[in-house]
Order: sequence, then C-alpha cells, then structure tokens
Amino acid sequence: MQQWWVILLAYLIGNFATSFIVGKLGANIDIRNHGSGNAGSTNVFRTLGLKAGIITFLGDSLKGVAAVFLGRHFGGEQLALLTGLAAIIGHNWPALLKFKGGKGIATTIGVMVVIQPLASAIVILFGSIILFRYRYVSLASVTAISLLPVILYFFEGTHYLFFGLVLAGMAIYRHRENIQRLMKGTERKISKKSR
Ligand code: G3P
Repeated sequence: MQQWWVILLAYLIGNFATSFIVGKLGANIDIRNHGSGNAGSTNVFRTLGLKAGIITFLGDSLKGVAAVFLGRHFGGEQLALLTGLAAIIGHNWPALLKFKGGKGIATTIGVMVVIQPLASAIVILFGSIILFRYRYVSLASVTAISLLPVILYFFEGTHYLFFGLVLAGMAIYRHRENIQRLMKGTERKISKKSR
C-alpha cells in the first residue's frame, strides 16, 4: 500500500470518536454539548460516569496503538511515527465530526506506549502524580506531555525530540482554554463524585 494511503487510514482511525459514540449509545447525547464540551474521556467521565469514561479512554488509546502498528506493518518505524501522528490529528480534528474533536491525550498515550514504552511509563507516572495531587486532569495532561520531548530525546535522540515537540505542541494548543482557566482559578477539578 502507498504510504499516503496508510497515513490517511490512520487519520480515519483517529476519527473514530469513542466519546461521541459512548455519549450517543449510552445517553443519546452529543458529548460536545455537555460539560467542558470536549470529545474526550475526562468529559465523558464528568458527564456520564466512571465506566463510560474508562471505555472512552480505552477506545481512544487503542486508536493510537492501532495506528502505530499499522505504520510499522506497512513501512517500519518512520511510518509508524507518521501514522501515530495522523491518528492524534484525526482525533483532535475529525473530518467526520466537522473537525470538532478531543484534545488527544488518550490517543497520544496509545501511540507512545507502542513507540517508547519506558518513556511513556515515566510520563504517565508523572501525570498520575500531578493528577492525584492537584485533581486537574488538564494540568496533569499538559505538564506530563511537556516532559515527553525531553524524555524521548534521552531515550531515542534528536529525531524523536522533534516528534515529542510536535505531540506536546498539539496537546498544549488543544488545552489552551484549560490553561487560561487554570491561570484564572476557574478550571474544574475532577472528583469521584462526577456524575
Ligand atoms: O485530555 C483532556 C483533559 O486534559 C481535559 O479535558 O474536558 O477537562 O477539558 P476537559
């Protein structure tokens, strides 16, 4: 298969909006009209509860995993980076949902767990500590993903530093409203009582 077709396929995998489907099937709602308006697992958890949030997180992560394996299968590691990136872009800006998607954290985790498991484990551990300490998913997401380029550079060198910078840049851009709310002190904390 031509590499461009593989990348397009990965983008379409990213378009599979787990949160949207869980919202429609579970409660007949468009998740983008509820809570933070984000098509992601945090907002599904906030709106529909823990089980729905976990299903969404797993579904969105699996898209990243599948996209990387797809790239590896058809072209090796270089293509795997591109298909992983395409899946995250597909999640954040899904053509099938008028380009109104999520913020890409779960899909990025899925991509990274396959590409560099050890670096991912460090980033996830760091994010989890921030989450348990401060209870802001957005803060945990943004700070942890900001570490990714440095850690990738440490494990894999310059080529992956650039890849990490692109992933971190996209995530920070998608969280720009969360960052503003964090600075104003109006960001919502996550709690076990959500829903
Ligand atoms: O990954 C998304 C999370 O960091 C923030 O989600 O719904 O609080 O904007 P939300």
